[in-house]
Amino acid sequence: VNSFGRIFRVTIFGESHGKGIGVVVDGCPPGISLTAYDFTKDLSRRKSGALGTTPRSEDDAPEILSGVYNDITTGAPIMIQFQNRNTVSKDYSQFKDTPRPGHADYTADVKFGGFNDPRGGGHFSGRVTLALVAAGVIAKKVITPIVVLAEIIELAGKKYSFEESISDAVKSGDSIGGIVECRCAGIPVGCGEPFFDSVESLISHIVFSIPAVKGIEFGNGFSAAKLRGSGNNDLIADSKGTTTTNNCGGINGGITNGNDIVFRTAFKPTPSISVVQKTFNFKKNVLDSLSIEGRHDACLVLRTPPVIESAASIVLADLMMINNLINRR
Ligand SMILES: Cc1cc2nc3c(=O)[nH]c(=O)nc-3n(C[C@H](O)[C@H](O)[C@H](O)COP(=O)(O)O)c2cc1C
Repeated sequence: VNSFGRIFRVTIFGESHGKGIGVVVDGCPPGISLTAYDFTKDLSRRKSGALGTTPRSEDDAPEILSGVYNDITTGAPIMIQFQNRNTVSKDYSQFKDTPRPGHADYTADVKFGGFNDPRGGGHFSGRVTLALVAAGVIAKKVITPIVVLAEIIELAGKKYSFEESISDAVKSGDSIGGIVECRCAGIPVGCGEPFFDSVESLISHIVFSIPAVKGIEFGNGFSAAKLRGSGNNDLIADSKGTTTTNNCGGINGGITNGNDIVFRTAFKPTPSISVVQKTFNFKKNVLDSLSIEGRHDACLVLRTPPVIESAASIVLADLMMINNLINRR
């Protein structure tokens, strides 16, 4: 399923090397100013260019096809599309017979009977996160004055020497993963629905849709399991519900408590590496060696902070609308 959200509903489409990528945002309130320029900042934060990112360079120019009139949202579905212009598809034909370890070549081929578009990872490519970031730009406007910010806090298991880790990975033809921390500030008390639509459930749902995500934790997360209640409980210090610590990451009972929502996302290392690997050759029916050429992010994490921000903002926009907390103009 390629749609997410109940009222603020986001549908993504496209493949890495097809004609383009895009998003339809249904349920966006009318009266919000929106121009192509609004997308520039977050789209360029997701772009490649830095050491450790793919040499594939796309202009990522958004075309707003509907739902905006005189630079203001109308309340009708907003459709935004991006052309794919810089594609080199010859690199991908070999993955049909020798699927890449860690990528979706094998699972997608079995699930879709070989009809999936394999070029550039098709619909499983990190390029599809472009659509999520576009929706996130709109969501961020909807939830203003809430501020959602994500940053990389760890690469290759280290909280320091990021550049060194990246250049080591690039030099050795390998890849690295990392952790992104996201903080959402200015959240009202009371967002989130018990039981299945708890804030943690919804954020985890959309964050796990992002390719290469393998873990998420809120507040103290897994380290809460090592503490006692006396060390983990957040003391409520005033009538607004402000807590002196934020070990629960701003969520109690699946509902926002008014303190910052804080969560961390773990990304695995990029599966496509040029280091020679073993994989099964389905044509020859033997174990084979695979050397992956082509253009890949040695450190895909570098491009993900705006993707994570968008995921969180989409959830918050939907919850704010469900709870009637959006100021309608
Ligand atoms: C921003 C971004 C960029 C990515 N770039 C690449 C890439 O260049 N090469 C690659 O093999 N995987 C890349 N990935 C990861 C794959 O899309 C992902 O690992 C694959 O679809 C399998 O899904 P899974 O890791 O969630 O199981 C990227 C992911 C993201 C979020």
